[in-house]
Amino acid sequence: MPHDSRILHPALRGRLMSADDAARLILPGDTVGMSGFTGAGYPKAVPAALARHISAAHAAGQPFKVSVWTGASTAPELDGALAAADGVELRLPYQSDPVCRQRINDGRMEYLDIHLSHVAQFAWFGFLGKLDVAVVEVAAILEDGRLVPSTSVGNNKTWLDQADKIILEVNSAVPAGLDGMHDLYYGTQLPPHRKPIPLVRPSDRIGEPYLRCNPDKVIAVVQTDAPDRDTRFAAPDEASRRIAGHILEFFAHEVAKGRLPAELLPLQSGVGNIANAVLAGLGDGPFENLTAFTEVLQDGMLDLLGSGKLAFASATALSLSSQAREAFNADLARYRSRILLRPQEISNHPELVRRLGVIAMNGIIEADLYGNINSTHVMGTQIMNGIGGSGDFARNGFLSIFMTPSTAKGGSISCIVPMTPHVDHTEHDVQVVVTEQGLADLRGLSPKQRARLIIERCAHPDYRPALRDYCQRALAGSPGKHTPHLLEEALSWHVRYLRSGSMAAQA
Ligand code: COA
Repeated sequence: MPHDSRILHPALRGRLMSADDAARLILPGDTVGMSGFTGAGYPKAVPAALARHISAAHAAGQPFKVSVWTGASTAPELDGALAAADGVELRLPYQSDPVCRQRINDGRMEYLDIHLSHVAQFAWFGFLGKLDVAVVEVAAILEDGRLVPSTSVGNNKTWLDQADKIILEVNSAVPAGLDGMHDLYYGTQLPPHRKPIPLVRPSDRIGEPYLRCNPDKVIAVVQTDAPDRDTRFAAPDEASRRIAGHILEFFAHEVAKGRLPAELLPLQSGVGNIANAVLAGLGDGPFENLTAFTEVLQDGMLDLLGSGKLAFASATALSLSSQAREAFNADLARYRSRILLRPQEISNHPELVRRLGVIAMNGIIEADLYGNINSTHVMGTQIMNGIGGSGDFARNGFLSIFMTPSTAKGGSISCIVPMTPHVDHTEHDVQVVVTEQGLADLRGLSPKQRARLIIERCAHPDYRPALRDYCQRALAGSPGKHTPHLLEEALSWHVRYLRSGSMAAQA
């Protein structure tokens, strides 16, 4: 579709300008709500232009920083460019950009990592302060000013509502066939006026296909023609194939026990290589007529839709590799009735995750003996990405499964440790831990029982003796026998790694 047919509102067509001119309307100190969720639907031109202006201001000795709110991670053109220009005061929520990560860990950028379902309501409640500008990528602007969303919905509805000023990027690379695949729910209220959200199946449509937008707030419209970033995962390796195998076996066991229906329950699959491998495993597994109620539709899930194993997927973003995107765009008609993209406050909504009985499957950095999970901080202090939606799904799901290889960095790190130096998911939110070694079903077990199972089923054999030894000595030496710990030793594995490059005890 040519650009002209994508901007049907006459007054907004009159606000067309270059990305540079539009970026000049963003001022030092502004808080900017950008579209974008896991590399999908982020603005492609204005952030880079803003980064150039910020660099020029810095070169001239003038301070210039903005705060950036998004849906989730974006791409080098946004997070990377602004971070490299030292242009970000505070960033929220989930990010995964290497430059951004470096700046946060160097202490040069503030980062607020909050549950993805909370972001919109925190903005509505006024907890986050004022939103000055929204920069939102869309597929088209309709005659009445409503917007056809792009490849992600994320927090766009909230940014458009809350911002004083709006800049729209109309991207002609977004396939026109996406029109109609979104479901924008405008029924959320502030407490105490909240009503149940009327969604009882992942496929339920509860809203409208288009984003509402007040044309009077639109200060610029920019045309782009650029694809989303290439979201590619490593091909499943032996460890992730084995993790997938353990999970499939567990599902079969739960079906046999009558605790899961034959078509399972709606699946949520996190980001990363392992999560993608589990989806590949489901493609080869016996389960049919699956559904997904998740955040991100990645390659593995598209394959499941393509093969027919997955009947329907509800998400907030289409985060695909370039290869999968081409296949999707070429065959869009086939997927139209089987995918809905929703705002992230709905895709991740605790009420809906609980009602639907979602099976939550997320990757982690490490787990401790008692089942506490660290998803975000390497060695307790360095942020990796963020909690993303894992907490939304894990606490409220029917099953909360956490997956990791048993070791990292060539075996020098055990991903099962005596105590995690940072906790994202407490023992109360964790039902199953899986590594390539095996699966620990922690449901109904006390802390000491959990520790035994996690060591024997999940820890790498090289680290099992030291973990058993720690448990025995902790039980003997700890004043409390409920969750025994030797406090002076509990984090010594991390300290040893930081000092020597390995968690393994020196011979
Ligand atoms: N200590 C230090 N580094 C570790 C580690 C540990 N215990 N465990 C993993 N890592 C490193 C790996 O070595 C790898 O590093 P590299 O990029 O330098 O190779 C990196 O973390 C990723 O690990 P990998 O095993 O490839 O897993 P992944 O791609 O599945 O990602 C997380 C794992 C935890 C980073 C990812 O799942 C995540 O960000 N989770 C939190 C958010 C979330 O759960 N979102 C889901 C809802 S959308």
